Amino acid sequence: MVDMTGKVALVTGGAEGIGGEIARQFIDAGGSVMLGDIQTEKAAAYAASLGTRAASATLDVSSLEQWAAAVKATMARFGKLTHLFNVAGISEPGSVEDVELDSWDRTLAINLNGTFYGCRSALPAMAASNESGAIINIGSMLALRVGGGFLAYCATKAAVTALSKCVALHCAEKGYKIRVNTVHPGAIRTPMFERYLGLFPSAEEGEAIFAANHPMGRVGEAEEVARACLFLASDDASFSTGVDFTVDGGGNFRS
Ligand SMILES: NC(=O)c1ccc[n+]([C@@H]2O[C@H](COP(=O)([O-])OP(=O)(O)OC[C@H]3O[C@@H](n4cnc5c(N)ncnc54)[C@H](O)[C@@H]3O)[C@@H](O)[C@H]2O)c1
Repeated sequence: MVDMTGKVALVTGGAEGIGGEIARQFIDAGGSVMLGDIQTEKAAAYAASLGTRAASATLDVSSLEQWAAAVKATMARFGKLTHLFNVAGISEPGSVEDVELDSWDRTLAINLNGTFYGCRSALPAMAASNESGAIINIGSMLALRVGGGFLAYCATKAAVTALSKCVALHCAEKGYKIRVNTVHPGAIRTPMFERYLGLFPSAEEGEAIFAANHPMGRVGEAEEVARACLFLASDDASFSTGVDFTVDGGGNFRS
């Protein structure tokens, strides 16, 4: 298991799903975590269940002001910030011809602006810690193998890849001890996935269709994505930056 003793992370979308599992594993590895989420009560209850090295802050990642407050709250509670996990994201269907304009705007605001705002807001505190640290941005298999019916989602997740590399370059050139990597999950069993299953005649049928989309013949679990994130965020990955790391059972390169 990786060692996060003494490290402090801000995890967006930390109330549940992939973000929630990253937070749990970060704490298990010895670190402290601030959960940032729009689900204030759920995040607070989850933080309480994780113990005294967890806390929560209300954070809508599309608000630069709320980012400033969340970073401030993290510094006030834990005294430093070494890690940022930009996990919060939304997925709404829509093609170039039928995507609702407010869905397009909302997806850009959360998935892309939210990731940029997070990097922008957290970097000064992370650099000031002068400790080895990392940013993990969550992309998607659909950044690498797009689907025409998910225009805004695919476009934002592909942009996150370039954004991560730009921030990785910047940090390296500045001499910050901060690496920046993107993790691209395939279909992963989370509340987001469960909502998609609800669109099929039965959950079993939906899951079989998602599973068939991955050469390994199944959907993934949040623990599997979180383990990859923890590795890339840890000193075990000390010479890896700007990486696109897939956790998708081979889904991005299937024919
Ligand atoms: N589950 C999948 O199959 C899958 C696949 C590929 C990529 N992803 C990506 O992984 C990330 C996490 O997905 P998940 O499945 O855990 O999602 P989820 O919907 O299960 O959980 C997302 C969490 O983010 C929070 N959130 C939503 N909007 C927010 C905002 N504006 N500000 C702060 N918090 C907000 C929600 O309250 C929730 O706690 C997302 O970026 C998603 O696009 C998920």
